[in-house]
Amino acid sequence: AVNRVRDVTAASTARVEPIELADINWDNLGFGLMPTDYMYIMKFSRDESFCHGELQRFGNIELSPSSGVLNYGQGLFEGLKAYRKDDGSILLFRPEENALRMRMGAERMCMPAPSVEQFVEAVKRTVLANKRWVPPPGKGSLYIRPLLMGSGAVLGLAPAPEYTFLIYVSPVGNYFKEGLSPINLVIENEFHRATPGGTGGVKTIGNYAAVLKAQTAAKAKGYSDVLYLDAVHKRYLEEVSSCNVFVVKDEVISTPAIKGTILPGITRKSVIDVGRNQGYQVEERLVSVEELLEADEVFCTGTAVVVSPVGSITYLGERVSYGNKGVGVVSQKLYTALTSLQKGLVEDKMGWTMEL
Ligand code: COI
Repeated sequence: AVNRVRDVTAASTARVEPIELADINWDNLGFGLMPTDYMYIMKFSRDESFCHGELQRFGNIELSPSSGVLNYGQGLFEGLKAYRKDDGSILLFRPEENALRMRMGAERMCMPAPSVEQFVEAVKRTVLANKRWVPPPGKGSLYIRPLLMGSGAVLGLAPAPEYTFLIYVSPVGNYFKEGLSPINLVIENEFHRATPGGTGGVKTIGNYAAVLKAQTAAKAKGYSDVLYLDAVHKRYLEEVSSCNVFVVKDEVISTPAIKGTILPGITRKSVIDVGRNQGYQVEERLVSVEELLEADEVFCTGTAVVVSPVGSITYLGERVSYGNKGVGVVSQKLYTALTSLQKGLVEDKMGWTMEL
């Protein structure tokens, strides 16, 4: 289907090519996989002799049953988004940050990784090859999922002899079924997401498998997701299954400091800067569960969840509500400031967006 993203008016005639969009219903995107046209694949060996990557039709891949990723979890993933602007152009948000984080994680997981330039170039090529899947303005975004995995065969425990860097994309809407309404979290008392010295600070695939049990149980009880406490004291906030957490008290914004067990979120880092630019005091430190329960506002950040306000937290059977069911003032301000930048609605003074 050929649609115009927006009626062309005299004031905006700079780029008027009709924009081809995939023929789907753009009004009800959730966060589920919608197969798109192309994926990017690059294979390389341990000595980092990269063969060149290529775009292929999106589809299943062949993998040795004995691959490092399937047997020993030698794998990482990333997540970033592309937004379409009113003029039809496409914006990426801080893709170099994802590239750097993948390199950091690869070091921890004993994997070679693409350079920042290779990563960003591959992301751009994948998005452009799938550009008819980038939702129209206001309808969502194109979620970009880079993977890095030990694809070579092993039997004894060792780093794989061959690696695959792959990128696929899917149009998405809101992550939580609540949409932009506040979510309800439960604090997990039995399981932990990460331990000191472990891999909680990198985006390795096993961190996400490890939270499924608690998350599934929480969802069955009607909660949106689970908030984890530190494994040593069982007292300090870590993060939610798929996002970082912030608390607001008396206009001071606080979030758990990065110390190896918490994923260094790019949205987290961006929200800290956006908050400071808006004049807020923002602290990265230990945040206790008691402080959380006494906060004025709580919100989560992540690429998938963006800035999601928290409406309630349940801890040891007690439920504490925030913001009288509405979105807190600070959360709303940060959400608007961040997403206006990501969508190209305001001038990008930070130099965070990359136009395709
Ligand atoms: C993201 O926000 O991109 C993530 O990686 C979280 C994922 C569980 C959806």
